[in-house]
Amino acid sequence: MGVKIGTSDSIENETPESVTIRINGKEHKVPCVEGQTIFNAAMRSKLEPPASCVGGVCGTCMARLVEGRIEMENFDAMHEDDFKNKNILTCQAVLLTKTAVIDYDAC
Ligand code: FES
Repeated sequence: MGVKIGTSDSIENETPESVTIRINGKEHKVPCVEGQTIFNAAMRSKLEPPASCVGGVCGTCMARLVEGRIEMENFDAMHEDDFKNKNILTCQAVLLTKTAVIDYDAC
């Protein structure tokens, strides 16, 4: 069973359009479609986000969810503090909101 992280239930299940990604001190707004992971969206826009297992196990792809709401099926690499801080595994996270803001630099 998956886990959802982010802002209120009331705005979830919008059709995703884009995600704003902060990485290496810069901010990029990239397209993100329904069912696509944030990691995949970043890769398609040639941002070279950190990753290793791409299976929710290692935590290398972790970033902070600043705005929006996501769902993850696998989240083995998440610890209690990560949930508290709204950290997410970008290789697993799919958008439930139209837009979101993700910050790799915060993790
Ligand atoms: S790349 Fe290993 S958890 Fe995402």
